[in-house]
Amino acid sequence: MSGASDRPRRQLFHPGTTIDDLKAYMGPFVATLGYRFNSDDEFVEAVLTAELGILETAGDVYCPCRIRTGDPKEDAQIVCPCIPFHREQFAAIRKCWCGLFVRTDVEDDTELCGVIDEPGPGQEVDVPVCRASDLAPGTVRHVKIGKTDLAVVRVGDEFHAVSNVCRHAFAPLSDGIVEGYELVCPWHGWRYDVRDGTTDHPGADLRVYPLFVVNECVMIRLSV
Ligand code: FES
Repeated sequence: MSGASDRPRRQLFHPGTTIDDLKAYMGPFVATLGYRFNSDDEFVEAVLTAELGILETAGDVYCPCRIRTGDPKEDAQIVCPCIPFHREQFAAIRKCWCGLFVRTDVEDDTELCGVIDEPGPGQEVDVPVCRASDLAPGTVRHVKIGKTDLAVVRVGDEFHAVSNVCRHAFAPLSDGIVEGYELVCPWHGWRYDVRDGTTDHPGADLRVYPLFVVNECVMIRLSV
């Protein structure tokens, strides 16, 4: 019988680790989560080389495209492979943040949204949230990027993103329904216009986030 004990455990790495060591551990680890290495071998080597450099200086194989906060708890969530901590987001974009791992059901890696460069403090970063075809018109999808909790809505061919937290009693709006440009809260029915976040409850408008589509990939612009 298979169970949690069959799953590979997270491994600590020490200076002197090689790329082959990382591959031998990470391949089976991510396979249990439904992922595999990117089929671009050169890219994989480049990312893993970067991780080994980070291991030497920072003591662990942190994802090279994420910024470490200095908070050990927070930073533990970006130790590669960080898939368990970002499942929903990665499921939406069908790869991990940098593209080192892609979902096993991806047939052509080149179709995936691009790699995100590491942004500097105070910079903006464009984050792929899904492919346009992944979100049907009139539907909403939950996306979490770091601490930013979003409801991404498609109305016709337009995409909009608002904060996922209802201002009434904090329901997850991504569980709500889309009616025209309105996102209707699943708990008590407050309505928000996804174009500007407005509601008819004074002072309770939602924050909106800029979304745009590049090569069929829906991107959100965030400040980091
Ligand atoms: S929690 Fe959204 S309307 Fe009450």
